[in-house]
Amino acid sequence: MCGIIGINSNKSVSASIINSLKKLEYRGYDSAGIATLHAGSINEVKSEGRVDNLEKNSVVQNMVGTIGIGHVRWATHGLPNSINAHPHSSQNVSVVHNGIIENSTLLKKFLVSKGHKFKSQTDTEVIVHLITENLKTENIINSITKTLKSLHGSFALGIIFKDQPDLIIGARRGSPLAVGYGPNENYLGSDSYALKSMTNKITYLSDGEFCVIKKDHVEFFNEDGIKINKKVLELSSEEEKYDKGDYKHFMAKEIEEQPTTLKNGIKEYLDTSNNDINIFNFPWKINEISTITLIGCGTAYHSCLMAKYWFEELTTLNVNVDIASEFRYRKNRFKKDTLYVFVSQSGETADTYAALSLCKSKEMKTCSVVNVIESSIARDSEFVLPIHCGIEIGVASTKAFLGQILILYLLALKLGFLRKDLKRELFNKKLKDLKELPDLVQQTLSIDNKIQTISKTFNDAKGSMFLGRGFSYPIALEGALKLKELSYIHAEGYPAGEMKHGPLALIEEGMPVVVLAPRDDYYKKTISNMQEVIARGAKVLLITNKSKDEIISENIWETIEVETTGADLLPFLLTVPLQKLAYYSALKKGYDIDKPRNLAKSVTVE
Ligand code: G6P
Repeated sequence: MCGIIGINSNKSVSASIINSLKKLEYRGYDSAGIATLHAGSINEVKSEGRVDNLEKNSVVQNMVGTIGIGHVRWATHGLPNSINAHPHSSQNVSVVHNGIIENSTLLKKFLVSKGHKFKSQTDTEVIVHLITENLKTENIINSITKTLKSLHGSFALGIIFKDQPDLIIGARRGSPLAVGYGPNENYLGSDSYALKSMTNKITYLSDGEFCVIKKDHVEFFNEDGIKINKKVLELSSEEEKYDKGDYKHFMAKEIEEQPTTLKNGIKEYLDTSNNDINIFNFPWKINEISTITLIGCGTAYHSCLMAKYWFEELTTLNVNVDIASEFRYRKNRFKKDTLYVFVSQSGETADTYAALSLCKSKEMKTCSVVNVIESSIARDSEFVLPIHCGIEIGVASTKAFLGQILILYLLALKLGFLRKDLKRELFNKKLKDLKELPDLVQQTLSIDNKIQTISKTFNDAKGSMFLGRGFSYPIALEGALKLKELSYIHAEGYPAGEMKHGPLALIEEGMPVVVLAPRDDYYKKTISNMQEVIARGAKVLLITNKSKDEIISENIWETIEVETTGADLLPFLLTVPLQKLAYYSALKKGYDIDKPRNLAKSVTVE
């Protein structure tokens, strides 16, 4: 999704801006641009596609200027072409923008009536002209305050001015933005990863705030243009490495890293000497919570759904699961005895963040399960459970999914135990099984050859289905999501027992159907549902776990057996072949695996 970089320095900034934009590439985008200020004029270059295209541009290679802004754009208003790419500039002002301006049509009408000419189809261009218009009568600070007040919707902005050789403005509402401090230079960035390559001293802007970045200091203002003080945070100075190593794609690497993700999570939260789970500083008394509401988007939503099955199995708590974009606009009944849990890899997903803000405004108990601990969701929730899986670059989430479900499983176990829903003996047994999980996932990873052959059938089909019951149902949804994200093949995840109420009509001769049927309490029921699809011509890929008992069905096209463990941990193992199926299917099709079309890693617009 869109990303912003700004640098105000003593030396030429274009190369550093391009390098920082490359760090934002993982977010998913379709065009890029840069503007620098030199000798009283703004030079702007934009290009369709990757930052590489921008870098190769001869104008960029010779670009001078000690102050500049750069952007990667994920199209919302207008086609993904170089005209609509950011920055957008008037004669006086140049702007980069993340977010959506909801009243742009009205503002545009007003500005056109004042004689402003528009070049692009974007909502962003109204900001440029609005500032230009306000500058006719106001000073910089007042023109920014006035402009921001006129905008409806969400934004993170980076702005430079033709007549201001030592000034970048940053402003935030809804979309994340941070300031970084360097030696004789200061930075603006939508993402601390991008800033981390230049500094570990950061200040995050809160909603409604804006800042003035000069070479030697930064000033902060509230929405009324009144100066405020902000803290400087020191992030860990170790820059996390995220090269692909010997892997062709980040996704392949991230799938293989999953045993480490689990080991890290277990090491962080399991107290092996006392057979306990450490959830330090949990801010609530256990009897204050009788309901858990889990909220997320995309893969994180599937983690929430998975957790529902575990919370119901291991505790007597009531459990609700919600998609953030639905939750935030529904007429919810907020209750004091509910713990609201927000699950997000990036910690920046706009809908999840809005759902959290809503709960906070109602003074609810909020907890987040995130990967990026400096993120807005982590910073704004009362209690944070980090997943410790390291940077995830592939747009399609893999190791973060296993990391999220591990933490949610640990939370369910711990709450079940504290509430006395779970007896000590069973609790100990489950902790023992958990310790073995990373090795079992490691063994399950060695199924590549078989999956590669199987993936061909999926690529040749019009569509596919993924079926599961109980613990396997959320995994079926996640498997279908992975396949559609990466291979652009229509894939539907469904509860196996629900097929006969509609989707069975889709089954035709040769259609590939994945059936998740581990040997758990649902096994026989799922196998019956599987027979119903086989009888109608489906080519079934059965994914089960190893067992001494034979599989009780015939005419199965292919079978994959994952390792064996307790029923509640099998979802971890079942996930692996589905990730690999999606990966190999996209690989065969030659698609851009780490950056699938139209998708973004961090979705900072609603
Ligand atoms: C995007 C990503 C998905 C991710 C979802 C939620 O759609 O492509 O992989 O699951 O956002 O992201 P979050 O960072 O909140 O987990």
